[in-house]
Amino acid sequence: MKKVELAPDRYWYPRPAVLFGVNINGKANFMAVGGGGVTNAVPPMIGIPVRHDRYSFKGVRQNMTFSIATPSVDMVKELDYCGIASGADVDKVKICGFEVFYGHLKTAPMIEQCPVNLECRVVKALDLGSHDFVIGQVEGAYASEDCLTDGKPDVEKIRPMIYDIDFNRYLAFGDVIAQAYKVGLEFRERE
Ligand SMILES: Cc1cc2nc3c(=O)[nH]c(=O)nc-3n(C[C@H](O)[C@H](O)[C@H](O)COP(=O)(O)O)c2cc1C
Repeated sequence: MKKVELAPDRYWYPRPAVLFGVNINGKANFMAVGGGGVTNAVPPMIGIPVRHDRYSFKGVRQNMTFSIATPSVDMVKELDYCGIASGADVDKVKICGFEVFYGHLKTAPMIEQCPVNLECRVVKALDLGSHDFVIGQVEGAYASEDCLTDGKPDVEKIRPMIYDIDFNRYLAFGDVIAQAYKVGLEFRERE
């Protein structure tokens, strides 16, 4: 296929669409994030790009903790609103009707209505230019009972969202297409 060269940018798929939670002056605030991901396995770590001028960044500095709450597709309005409005101006928890709970860290607010929540302790914040890449160790993980299969979070039940930054839209996850570490074994015959 003929390739068209594009200006270098962050063409990376799929992007998550999750909520980044912090406490600021003792009050919970959530902002939408559409980047980052898993950065380490043992111990488990998550990295999130946060612009330096975000109100939420204050919370990172104040407590060195944050949370990641994964909303289901039916929370798309709440997610989007948390990416439009600033906690500096409005109480997003109240407006979205979030029921906030805390875990071991006490300063990483999580959302009852989100099927999966992670509370993280900041281990590193790398200033990369426009953003700090905030890396947190997962200190607690909470999942809604009805989203588990054999005790594990099941993405088909969680129904998370994907953020499409180029067309400013949200997508639902697709179908299961194959079994990991299995479907590729067919190529062993070519070795
Ligand atoms: C889908 C979506 C994804 C976003 N991803 C990020 C991100 O990864 N990092 C970031 O700093 N801001 C991101 N934003 C912007 C913030 O969510 C937005 O500026 C928000 O209002 C900041 O909230 P705060 O002022 O309460 O901190 C995103 C916004 C949307 C709608």
